[in-house]
Amino acid sequence: MPCTATDTAPNAASPTTHPCRVQQVRRLTGDSVLVTLDPGDALQAFRHEPGQRVTFCLDLQDRTCFRSYNLVNAPEGLPQVAVKQVAQGGASQFFTQDLRPGDILNVAPPEGDLYPAEVDTSTHHLMLFAAGSGITPLYSIARHALRAGPDHRVTLFYANRSARDIMFRKELDQLAASPRLEVFHILGDGGTGEAHSSGRLCPDRVAGLVAQFGRPSFPEIAFISGPKGFQEAVQTGLRDVAPQLDVRAFSFGRQPYHHPDDPTDLRHGVDIHIVKNGVTRHIFGAPRHLTLLEAADHAGIEVPAECRGGICHRCKAKLLDGRTVSSGPREEQRTPPPGHILCCQERPASDEITLDLD
Ligand code: FES
Repeated sequence: MPCTATDTAPNAASPTTHPCRVQQVRRLTGDSVLVTLDPGDALQAFRHEPGQRVTFCLDLQDRTCFRSYNLVNAPEGLPQVAVKQVAQGGASQFFTQDLRPGDILNVAPPEGDLYPAEVDTSTHHLMLFAAGSGITPLYSIARHALRAGPDHRVTLFYANRSARDIMFRKELDQLAASPRLEVFHILGDGGTGEAHSSGRLCPDRVAGLVAQFGRPSFPEIAFISGPKGFQEAVQTGLRDVAPQLDVRAFSFGRQPYHHPDDPTDLRHGVDIHIVKNGVTRHIFGAPRHLTLLEAADHAGIEVPAECRGGICHRCKAKLLDGRTVSSGPREEQRTPPPGHILCCQERPASDEITLDLD
């Protein structure tokens, strides 16, 4: 099913994508790029709040998929996203290796509420914890915080494997010229030579950093963005040292998506019918952001599964009715047979889905 772009006004029942011309693809690190888009007349639809993301509807070689990336441009500029290549990531490979200026991509407008508007009603200290490409929403928040009305203070702890992997290094150095922003790079390969700069962020370390760099004279709020293990470590550390702290976590592994071709109201759930051993069980109103395997887990329906990563194929099912979209990278040689899907890799794209596990 190809991606299509519409040019009707956005509404909840029919999410709109806009055709955007790729204006520039600039390399940020060896495995990441900054993509600048020109939405033409639709530019106004891409004005965004800090930490918001846009969703791309991508026609890759073997499938249509949806991927969300955070906007990192200044509010008045052309939309920009930063994409890092991930292992077996078909979409990230497309962005980092195949995309060229002049290409047209269908993009849904910004969404997300990571950054609470009330933060800007008074001066806050923002503590930002990012790992790898998790920097993207926090870079946007840091830049916003330095321009916002109140004189926010910002402390960014940014973890990477090595200095080569730091995205937006130059831009962060420029931002750090402000006395209101401090940036600490934490590098797995031994650090930058500065204090606090080497090793991993474990809960004890997070607690120590907050105790040292916290500014309790201001209301404080923490934002976390990175893989699940990183988030858990930071959250545990913050809970230990500042249990009352307002903490907002952004997981790029669990981003909701909009299906531009689906005319249904995305707020409504999906009915999933699962046939197993000749018996049909039903899940009514399953949330659309869950994979089919997660929806079955929540409903207490056992679906065979092992890796949950698209590798073992134990969750393979025949798709008898309905449509799904891929939620993760799929290994080329191990695509399921025609008419079949991997329940751990697919999310609903229609109101009704019927699966056969037999
Ligand atoms: S659980 Fe292994 S491929 Fe889905």
